[in-house]
Amino acid sequence: MVDYALELLNISCIFRAKDDRTQRYTAVADTTLRVRAGEFVSVVGPTGCGKSTLLNVGAGLLEPSSGEVKVFGQPLEGINARAGYMFQSEALMPWRSALDNVMLGLQYRGMPDAKARELANEWLARVGLAGFGDRYPHQLSGGMRKRAALAQVLALDPDIILMDEPFSALDIQTRQLMENEVLALWAGKKKAVLFITHDLDEAIAMSDRVVVLSAGPATRPIGEFEIDLPRPRDVAEVRTHPRFVELHSQIWAVLRDEVLKGYTQQLRKAA
Ligand SMILES: Nc1ncnc2c1ncn2[C@@H]1O[C@H](COP(=O)(O)OP(=O)(O)O)[C@@H](O)[C@H]1O
Ligand SMILES: [Mg+2]
Repeated sequence: MVDYALELLNISCIFRAKDDRTQRYTAVADTTLRVRAGEFVSVVGPTGCGKSTLLNVGAGLLEPSSGEVKVFGQPLEGINARAGYMFQSEALMPWRSALDNVMLGLQYRGMPDAKARELANEWLARVGLAGFGDRYPHQLSGGMRKRAALAQVLALDPDIILMDEPFSALDIQTRQLMENEVLALWAGKKKAVLFITHDLDEAIAMSDRVVVLSAGPATRPIGEFEIDLPRPRDVAEVRTHPRFVELHSQIWAVLRDEVLKGYTQQLRKAA
């Protein structure tokens, strides 16, 4: 028997349109996606296809219209307490220092202040922010804010890490540094990771497995690829590996048409 950390089983998500409540939009249709304990899985798909929707379902923030979510074999009810969530947008509270931001989740879980402070400081150091704990978010660079957000999630020591395009706003060098650091931290702890991205290079460089989603509506997985590249990996260097190039062209052959479809749909929606 395989140990699954997270299972999304036959998930469908149907939304009502904001302007016309009688109109329905099927964002995700009958999607099954499993992440093993310790596995790093990326989901790629065009913008607007339903990636965040799926992740929200896994986090327990959105109830699917049909289907089931299991967390370590148990049906999920309400918020997924075994998962930590890293959003695409800024998640730090601007009126709290970096240290206070990292401490918040720990205090919320009932950890005494002194212990929370100690652990938060440890995590800030681990993500390269030793000495920056007293800075407020506006006093940190974009990359540093992402590091603080990462410390915030990892300090809670979740068994499942959900990341929704966490580095898409960063410049390429900062992004690659962060990707490598996430891989190094992951290698130490081997948590289950569900990583959402629209960037195929990032998905291949980071993952054990890449799942490709079709363009919406009625998004579903249309391809799944084992990434058999050696670890540890350097996300910049691995891109020149012959196997990387091969995997990239195989996956891109599946993804390409969906990206074009997704782009056309975005234009139509905007019109
Ligand atoms: N709460 C909602 N109400 C109505 N439509 C939604 C809602 N959330 C997402 N959608 C629609 O579902 C589709 C998928 O959205 P999303 O999961 O955010 O895509 P992605 O993360 O892949 O860019 C989009 O067309 C979006 O407009
Ligand atoms: Mg999204």
